[in-house]
Amino acid sequence: MEEWQEGEIIENKKWTENLASLKIKANINLHKAGQFTRLGLKHGNNLVTRSYSYASAPQDDLLEIIYVNIPNGIFSPRLHQLKRGDKISVMSQAIGYFTLDEIPDGKNLWMLATGTALGVFLSILKTALPWKRFEKIILIHGVRYAEELIYQDLISDLKNKYSNQFEYLSSVTRSSIENSFNFRIPEGLQSGAFQKRTQIEINTDSQFMICGNPEMIKETTEVLKSFGLNKNRRAKPGNITVERYWV
Ligand SMILES: Cc1cc2nc3c(=O)[nH]c(=O)nc-3n(C[C@H](O)[C@H](O)[C@H](O)COP(=O)(O)OP(=O)(O)OC[C@H]3O[C@@H](n4cnc5c(N)ncnc54)[C@H](O)[C@@H]3O)c2cc1C
Ligand SMILES: NC(=O)c1ccc[n+]([C@@H]2O[C@H](COP(=O)([O-])OP(=O)(O)OC[C@H]3O[C@@H](n4cnc5c(N)ncnc54)[C@H](OP(=O)(O)O)[C@@H]3O)[C@@H](O)[C@H]2O)c1
Repeated sequence: MEEWQEGEIIENKKWTENLASLKIKANINLHKAGQFTRLGLKHGNNLVTRSYSYASAPQDDLLEIIYVNIPNGIFSPRLHQLKRGDKISVMSQAIGYFTLDEIPDGKNLWMLATGTALGVFLSILKTALPWKRFEKIILIHGVRYAEELIYQDLISDLKNKYSNQFEYLSSVTRSSIENSFNFRIPEGLQSGAFQKRTQIEINTDSQFMICGNPEMIKETTEVLKSFGLNKNRRAKPGNITVERYWV
């Protein structure tokens, strides 16, 4: 198979002015939940590309990603203009190791996401494996504004289906709304607020997958280290596995 395939935009859904999700039809290889792809758009003779986590599950028909339009970014404003029927290059083979087969066994799985990183966890949660492997799964989504708490229908379905196993916590930092925390993720762990809500202590019974804003990842990792947890490496398994969206 060629490295790049031509995909067709099926939907470019605008959740807010700058937060959106794309559905793409493309003849690509099966991915593992947790992996990312690269999308490409022609700029003159060059193909400009960027990485995007699959929000769709391997069993889904269309490739789905969540993206934020960075107004002075190079690629995302072009994604934002795409309409149904437009074409986009998609890498045939998914990449990445932010997948459950890299995560050691444990009792609890914490999934910590800022902004668009929600997608990678939705992809994993739409598969059967996490529910078979972990007694409790806690998804925490940190966003700036309430309207960025997207995919609530899917999250409600998961809550109904796995009512004793699944906890969803949200944190909105730039406004205050009912039923959400309003501080950043590291603070929620440091203060014990998340542990109090879930009734789960932080110790080596828990695996943490953390994705999104690199500063959040750095600060959260420091907090988790203060609870005695370590980075998960192939050579030395631990409890903290991360994926950064930029440097
Ligand atoms: C492994 C991996 C997976 C990724 N998955 C996604 C994804 O699923 N959805 C997505 O929107 N982006 C994702 N990204 C980031 C994406 O590749 C682009 O960087 C992003 O779309 C912006 O592209 P740009 O050319 O417009 O701006 P760039 O020049 O690439 O970035 C400009 C600045 O925008 C900010 N920024 C970049 N990405 C984000 C983001 N996701 N949320 C908030 N601020 C951001 C950073 O401050 C960055 O320095 C991923 C990156 C990596 C490495
Ligand atoms: N989201 C939008 O609709 C929107 C609109 C216009 C432009 N943009 C552009 O998109 C980018 C931001 O996108 P985003 O809001 O999805 O992502 P983001 O900046 O990563 O914010 C998502 C969440 O992460 C938190 N956060 C930021 N730094 C952190 C840290 N060091 N530790 C812990 N948590 C941290 C934020 O808290 P704080 O609120 O406290 O920072 C927020 O709750 C910017 O480049 C911006 O210019 C976004």
